[in-house]
Amino acid sequence: MTDNAATANAALSYRERDIASVLHPQTNALKHLSVGPTIITGSNGVFVTDDTGKQYLDSGAGLWCASLGYHNERLAKVAYKAMSELGYFQIFRHASHKAAIDLSERLLEIAPVEMSKVLLQCSGSEANDTGVKIVWYYWNALGKPERRKIITRMGSYHGSTCVATSMTGNGAYHRSFGLPFSEFLHTDLPNHYRNALPGETEQEFSSRLADSLERMILAEGPETIAAFWADPVQGNAGALPPPAGYFEKVQAVLKKYGILFVADEVICGFGRTGEMWGCQTYDLKPDMIACAKGLSSGMQPISALLINDKIFEVLRDESNRLGAFVHGFTYAGHPVATAVALETLKIYEEMDIVAQVQSVEGTFLQNLDDLSSHPLVGATSGCGLIGGLELVMNKESKAPFPAEANLIGTIDKYAQQFGIILRVVPNRIAYSPSLIIDEAGLDEMARRTRQVLDATLNELKRFVR
Ligand SMILES: Cc1ncc(COP(=O)(O)O)c(C=O)c1O
Repeated sequence: MTDNAATANAALSYRERDIASVLHPQTNALKHLSVGPTIITGSNGVFVTDDTGKQYLDSGAGLWCASLGYHNERLAKVAYKAMSELGYFQIFRHASHKAAIDLSERLLEIAPVEMSKVLLQCSGSEANDTGVKIVWYYWNALGKPERRKIITRMGSYHGSTCVATSMTGNGAYHRSFGLPFSEFLHTDLPNHYRNALPGETEQEFSSRLADSLERMILAEGPETIAAFWADPVQGNAGALPPPAGYFEKVQAVLKKYGILFVADEVICGFGRTGEMWGCQTYDLKPDMIACAKGLSSGMQPISALLINDKIFEVLRDESNRLGAFVHGFTYAGHPVATAVALETLKIYEEMDIVAQVQSVEGTFLQNLDDLSSHPLVGATSGCGLIGGLELVMNKESKAPFPAEANLIGTIDKYAQQFGIILRVVPNRIAYSPSLIIDEAGLDEMARRTRQVLDATLNELKRFVR
């Protein structure tokens, strides 16, 4: 930029400069040119403040990650110290540093099932993408290169790299990108409220879905299926917990056909579900675990992929046969990110994050339940501090709002007005507040949600029958 251009830009507002320079993820690029950004400038507990001074209660901890809130002196000091001492090094070709070792060791200590090694990356997408490569490496090494197909669920989100997008079971993420890649299959969305047959119990529904998964495996050929991937609570399906018996039945099918099971704990890990891991809440026994977000309370971009001994032993021998495990990211195991993540885990331990979540879980779930009396709420479900409200146009028929009602836009408008950040995916309000939220914060979250729902109902009443 020339000096003249810099001077001209300095005269513009941040809003104008954002419009001129930033391409925002998950945003209508044309609309952004006229509506511009909401510029967040600070925070106070579970509230964030914009540049006009307006406060919003963030019901989603940013993107499911700011477990300790949006600023933290202790983590800042650790980041400063790390950057002052060793601000960057890499862990390729036998190199290492202490924070990467300490963090990996700690993750193995707290893992929900016995794990063997940790691969560090910068995002949940990279952890899942790396996981798929390792699954393929594993089967190739075992002389079964035809085991290529990855099964995930409809409604799941696993990230935004090409592979993680292919894993994602939502057409909106695929359109105009020419994805998913052909080796990615999507089995049923386990939403009992929406998809159960009349009178079908959760257990019966789970059995039907496990049967459907088995039929998919048989139709494709079990010898072509590499792995099944699942997030314990499906975030992008609207913070949707599994129906009773679901994972027990699904894991039995996977075992029957020798299919690897990977738990995507990117949003569920580190206390969110009321246990340290979603795997503990739902008794999952995965071969690999992807985690991120809460790992650093969102304060540094870091993720980890934990792999068990069965996979490590094969990978170890294959890397020896080929000369190396030829995979890695420049910022994998970054000294600042690993130091911050390690300190985050120490803070969780000191404050007993699981007990903290459990102490407010009752209020959170009760408040969701109370909202089920609202005409727009068909059902509620959740665990720990993750949960959702199923939004309907008609409680009897469970019909969702048609696209022309612009439900999400309407909710966004009133959420802005009433000072709350609400996330609607796809027909559910998904809650995942910071884990430091107290009962007063949860009550305020419910109160503001009700205000938004009332105003939305009033505006969309012509659709409500
Ligand atoms: C379950 C799940 N997996 C993976 C990801 C991708 O993580 P990231 O955005 O850090 O790449 C997300 C992001 O929300 C997620 O919810």
